[in-house]
Amino acid sequence: MNYRHAYHAGNFADCMKHALLVSLLGSFLRKSTPFMVLDTHAGIGRYDLHCEEAEKTQEWRNGIGLLMDEGPDSPLAPWLDLVRKAGGPDIYPGSPMLVAMMLRAEDHLVCCEKHPDDKRKLYGVFSRNPNVAVHERDGYEALRALLPPATAKRGLVLIDPPFEEPDEFGRLITAVQTIQARFPTGIIAIWYPIKHRTPVRAFHTALKDAGVRDVLAAEFLMRPPVDPDRLNGSGLLAIKPPYGFAAQADAQLKRLKTLLHAHDYSITQIVPE
Ligand SMILES: C[S@@+](CC[C@H](N)C(=O)[O-])C[C@H]1O[C@@H](n2cnc3c(N)ncnc32)[C@H](O)[C@@H]1O
Repeated sequence: MNYRHAYHAGNFADCMKHALLVSLLGSFLRKSTPFMVLDTHAGIGRYDLHCEEAEKTQEWRNGIGLLMDEGPDSPLAPWLDLVRKAGGPDIYPGSPMLVAMMLRAEDHLVCCEKHPDDKRKLYGVFSRNPNVAVHERDGYEALRALLPPATAKRGLVLIDPPFEEPDEFGRLITAVQTIQARFPTGIIAIWYPIKHRTPVRAFHTALKDAGVRDVLAAEFLMRPPVDPDRLNGSGLLAIKPPYGFAAQADAQLKRLKTLLHAHDYSITQIVPE
C-alpha cells in the first residue's frame, strides 16, 4: 500500500477518468428513480494541489492546469463545472467527491478505501453527508457484501485500483464476474494504465473469454505506448455503458487531446451487447 493518489491528482489520467465518469453518471439523472454508486478504491476525495505531494510531481499542471479556461459549450463543461464548484484548480475533486456532487436526495454513494490515513481523510470530507457511506476495507472483498445495492435498482461500480499488485488485471476479471452475478444490470467502470499494449490486449481478451458482454474501451495516449516503464496513457473500460455514452466520450477525449497536447485517443467496442 505505497500508492498515494495525492502525487497524481489532476493529471491527464485523472482528467480523462473523471470527465468520462461524469458523463456515465449523467445518464442516471435523466430518470427520477434512485441510483447508487460504489467506489471501490476511493482515495481521499479532495486534493489540495498545493500540498507537498502535488508540488513534488507537478503532474496536475499538464492535466487540470491546462483546462480551467474551457468555456460552457465544451464537451468537458459538465465535469469542469463540478471541478470549479469544488474549488478547482486549487482543490481538485476526486471520484467520490464528483459523484457526491451529482447525487440527489434519494441517491447514495458507498466508498471503500483500504489505507487507514486516506480513509480518515475521506471520512472527514463526507462525515456530514447522509447520502455517503465510507468504509475502511478492501474494495474487492466488499463487492459481495455491498451488492446488490440495498437502496436502488440502478447503479454504477467504479474500480480504480493503484496497480501495485502483480495480477491486478486478473483481479479485475474476477471482480467483474462477481459484480455481474450479484448486480447484472449495473454499469461497471474500470480505470487501467497503459504502459505498453501487451497487458492491455491480454486484459481485453480475458474479458471476452470470460463471457462479459457490452464492453467499451476509451483509451487516451499522451505518447505512443512503447516504454513499459512509463505511464504513456490510460483507459476507462465501460461495461453496459448507457445509450449515447460512446459519442459523448468521443467528443470529450477529442477535446482533451487538443488541450493536453496528447498523442491519440480511441473509443472501441471490445465486445458487443
Ligand atoms: C487511484 S487511487 C483512487 C483515486 C480515486 N478513485 C479518484 O479517482 O479520485 C487508488 C486508491 O485505492 C486505495 N487502495 C489500494 N488498494 C485497495 C483495496 N484493495 N481496496 C480499497 N482501496 C484500496 C489506495 O489507498 C488509493 O487511495
